[in-house]
Amino acid sequence: MSIPIIFLFSLLILSFYIPKNNAFSKPITKEEMGLKKQQNLTHLHFYFHDYVQGSNQTALRIAQAPSTNKSSSGFGALVMIDDPLTEGPEHDSKIVGYAQGMYGFADQKQPGLVMVMNYVFVEGEYNGSTLSLLGRNQVMNKVREMSIVGGSGVFRFATGYAQAKTVTLLDKFGASVVEYDVYVQH
Ligand SMILES: *[C@@H]1O[C@H](CO)[C@@H](O)[C@H](O)[C@H]1NC(C)=O
Ligand SMILES: *[C@@H]1O[C@H](CO)[C@@H](O)[C@H](O)[C@H]1NC(C)=O
Ligand SMILES: *[C@@H]1O[C@H](CO)[C@@H](O)[C@H](O)[C@H]1NC(C)=O
Ligand SMILES: *[C@@H]1O[C@H](CO)[C@@H](O)[C@H](O)[C@H]1NC(C)=O
Repeated sequence: MSIPIIFLFSLLILSFYIPKNNAFSKPITKEEMGLKKQQNLTHLHFYFHDYVQGSNQTALRIAQAPSTNKSSSGFGALVMIDDPLTEGPEHDSKIVGYAQGMYGFADQKQPGLVMVMNYVFVEGEYNGSTLSLLGRNQVMNKVREMSIVGGSGVFRFATGYAQAKTVTLLDKFGASVVEYDVYVQH
């Protein structure tokens, strides 16, 4: 092959090399993300079982400050949970999901928690989808409101709020049972 032909060949090969688009960001349309469809508003209702003791403990104290035991509000303790969420308040009621995450005792004067957790649903069309909750839980108040800051699966782009009401503080199974009403736009 003569030099000019080799040169032409390499030009041809080079022209097939299309560099990958490594753009850090680019605008996209709402249609591409399915956001032009009507947004859904969903009300979820379930019971949260926080087994702080007993043979099936689902809430473990993983850390606390040296001063926590001297604090009337338990300030400085951190609890990791994998709590069942059920349809009804009974401890053997059907499980619809789990609350996985943490709560910390974040108030020095009164029992006030910072809640950082995902609701992991296992039922029906919500199976595999999650909602993320972040909020303040003043456990002695009748109704506490916390933020839903996001979600995955059917709950992509979710925003909303959750309201919690204590049903039982500590039942014979070692659980505190809390009723949740969650309102989400997604
Ligand atoms: C709203 O809900 C309907 C029925 O469940 C579903 O088909 C649709 O995809 C949902 N829309 C969005 C934006 O998630
Ligand atoms: C705090 O109290 C708990 C439970 O009564 C006990 O297990 C723990 O050892 C105490 N911690 C400190 C630092 O005193
Ligand atoms: C939920 O999804 C998991 C994993 O895909 C599957 O094993 C399970 O059977 C599903 N549960 C229900 C109730 O659909
Ligand atoms: C703990 O879980 C086991 C297995 O699911 C069950 O048989 C037992 O009754 C539970 N115990 C309590 C106190 O809930």
